Amino acid sequence: MPPRRNLCLIREFHMTQTAPASPPVTPLDFTPLLAAGLPAPAAKWNGFPKYNFVGGHNDAAQVPVDALIDAATAVLRREGRTLATYGLESGPLGYRRLRAFLVEKLWRDAGMSCAIDEILITSGSLQGIELVNGILLSRGDTVLVEQVTYFGSLNRLARLGVNAIGVPLDHEGLRMDALSAALDDLKRRGIRPKYIYTIPTVQNPTGAIMGEPRRLELLRLAELHNVPIFEDDCYADLVWDGRRPPAIHALSRGRNVIHIGSFSKSIAPALRVGFIVADWSLLSRMLPLKTDAGSGALEQMVLAEYCAPHFAAHVPELTRALRAKLETLMESLAEQFGTAAEFDEPKGGIFLWVKLPDVVDTQKLAQAAAAAGVAINPGFEWSPDKPYGRSRLRLCFGHPSHAEIREGVAVLADVCRREFGVPSRIANVEQSAGRP
Ligand SMILES: Cc1ncc(COP(=O)(O)O)c(C=O)c1O
Repeated sequence: MPPRRNLCLIREFHMTQTAPASPPVTPLDFTPLLAAGLPAPAAKWNGFPKYNFVGGHNDAAQVPVDALIDAATAVLRREGRTLATYGLESGPLGYRRLRAFLVEKLWRDAGMSCAIDEILITSGSLQGIELVNGILLSRGDTVLVEQVTYFGSLNRLARLGVNAIGVPLDHEGLRMDALSAALDDLKRRGIRPKYIYTIPTVQNPTGAIMGEPRRLELLRLAELHNVPIFEDDCYADLVWDGRRPPAIHALSRGRNVIHIGSFSKSIAPALRVGFIVADWSLLSRMLPLKTDAGSGALEQMVLAEYCAPHFAAHVPELTRALRAKLETLMESLAEQFGTAAEFDEPKGGIFLWVKLPDVVDTQKLAQAAAAAGVAINPGFEWSPDKPYGRSRLRLCFGHPSHAEIREGVAVLADVCRREFGVPSRIANVEQSAGRP
């Protein structure tokens, strides 16, 4: 081995040499090579806006960092060498100890009875949505969804060329009269929907929770029409009083229901860990479509190590913090928008779904607000029925601080008044439309 000083000299020598001049190269134009039908290009990320009410981000202070560090250290010391194999010696369904935790948790919290081999760990529940879609949907198919629902599901359906029919909601989620009518109508037209997609426990974006009788009615209708239910329980841990109805999967005893869940909202979205609960006959069709050779192992190991002793105590602390932020948001809206902002108080979660007067186009409001540093989700993105979402918006209160919520809502009200003349009162002070 050369002495240290010689190594430095060698490095200096290389750094002082100039590379031989090479002929100028015209960069290859990839445009004609791109595959047909790609989605629009992504915008470059320029950091978060000052007042960030979009996305499904969580409260930074509630990420259990110290306990995750301890969990990571313990599990790596004990089992770190299993990282040498794809799938951690647990096979393609995911880390066995995490699936064992889920078997117990889903039984305790949601009344679900499932075997360890009926759970597939996914890279976020978004991958779960893609795998379920992957085995069931073809271009031209029809599915039933809630009239307002998760944008990530809607845009995947649109990309697949699937017809998503929105079914109206009320304070308890999917309306059964409307669902029954929609199913009858499709039957008359000879169309069998591929699934009924629902977020029954803290609906995104309305925050509604479907009660048990309605879940049973939903199952009855689904069975009558021979249509499976796709239950997305992404927010089910974030119920304010901690009490939730049994999962639809539990009530159906696993028949006809595919269930997905996530650790994004209960622990942290950046971990990218979700799961699917389904019969092996379905999981065995999804596995060949899961082409990532396994979801991130470290995340699964740390979660399993952390969750077994801590999850049950962590969740009430998190929901208490989120509930306090919701209070701040509702107070700020009342103060800044008065009666111009209408909403039903959500029963959990991280979102408030707001209706503004018809004169407000929230797509335009979102653009004007963005220029003032406030990011909001315009309602049209959240509904297959675009006019329904026109004067609605979704506000995520999970990530901004209490002060940012207050300031951000004040800025939003100011922008809205300037653009649309409402609210006519700001902070309970009468405004003239021409006020600078
Ligand atoms: C209803 C619903 N399902 C699924 C997801 C996907 O979440 P993740 O992939 O982080 O688990 C989200 C994210 O916000 C959601 O709102």
